Amino acid sequence: MSALRCRSFAKINLHLEVVGRRADGYHELRTLFQSVALHDVVEVESAADGCAVEVMEGEAPEDASNLAARAAALLLERFAPRRDGARIRLWKRIPLGAGLGGGSSNAATTLWALNRLFGGPATAAELSELAAELGADVPYFLSGGTAWGTGRGDRIEPLPDLEEQEIWLVTPPVEVSTAEVFARLGLPAGVLTPRDTPSSIVRLVEVGTEARADRLQAYNDLEAGVLGHYPEIREAREVLVDAGGASVRLSGSGATLYAFFHVPVDVGALRRRLPAGSRIVCSRTLSRPSYLASRIVDPSGGRSRDPVAGRRGKPLRVPPDAT
Ligand code: C5P
Repeated sequence: MSALRCRSFAKINLHLEVVGRRADGYHELRTLFQSVALHDVVEVESAADGCAVEVMEGEAPEDASNLAARAAALLLERFAPRRDGARIRLWKRIPLGAGLGGGSSNAATTLWALNRLFGGPATAAELSELAAELGADVPYFLSGGTAWGTGRGDRIEPLPDLEEQEIWLVTPPVEVSTAEVFARLGLPAGVLTPRDTPSSIVRLVEVGTEARADRLQAYNDLEAGVLGHYPEIREAREVLVDAGGASVRLSGSGATLYAFFHVPVDVGALRRRLPAGSRIVCSRTLSRPSYLASRIVDPSGGRSRDPVAGRRGKPLRVPPDAT
């Protein structure tokens, strides 16, 4: 096999608690990750010299700052030293700096796909360790679905999957720096203050009781700071709540907000009311079996199911000149 083409799915945080700032500067988290069908496409193949990234659609860096290139280099260095290099092609559909984990997902997908292409030199545990070196969110994307993240968000416990549901993702036209959002919390280093985790989340994590994503009592500790700092995100949240969105919440450090709708969605009206340049995607949550089964794009072009195929998965961009 000379190349492997994969779907690299986005995530949302259904719940995110900041427990405190650790002595190493990172923040200790308790977070509920959920995969969604929105995805980039990542193709890997072995190459004669070095690790290069080519962006075929959308925007992302093509140099060594791209996390997928770093993932390939790390895998080669540690587990495939006799390989000369890898070529990575990216089709980017997940917005950047959006709290949807696009870069982390691409890195995890690259690790997994290259390892498979090279005949599996690294075990699943070794891939997780490499993933954690690349970024706090990266290990989650090795398995996807509904999962509980602790530590920096890099210690992952897969949970029973929540029911798959339609979910709307709205990304206002601002790029948020995760590092700045955490820094603005201004927490003292080395002080951890466990919070009250909502009981529905505790039940899901400890007992595995089924719950629906739109019925979880949950919060995101980064949301108040982000809404206070970015008026466009605040405005978008008001529009979604006003349109009847349920569980409207920030994903990660933003800028993306997600919402469940139990009423018909008038996309035209949403588009007119959201900040100009906002991106609206109707997607759905993805269980772990769906995530794992649809990871490889079937080269025969047919039978493997594309979770975002069809009209509903298409991104709908608000024209920059909309009022
Ligand atoms: O791990 P990643 O590179 O995605 O994180 C980006 C930045 O966000 C980190 O450099 C750090 O400043 C902040 N962060 C944090 N605590 C976490 C995750 C991220 O402080 N658990």
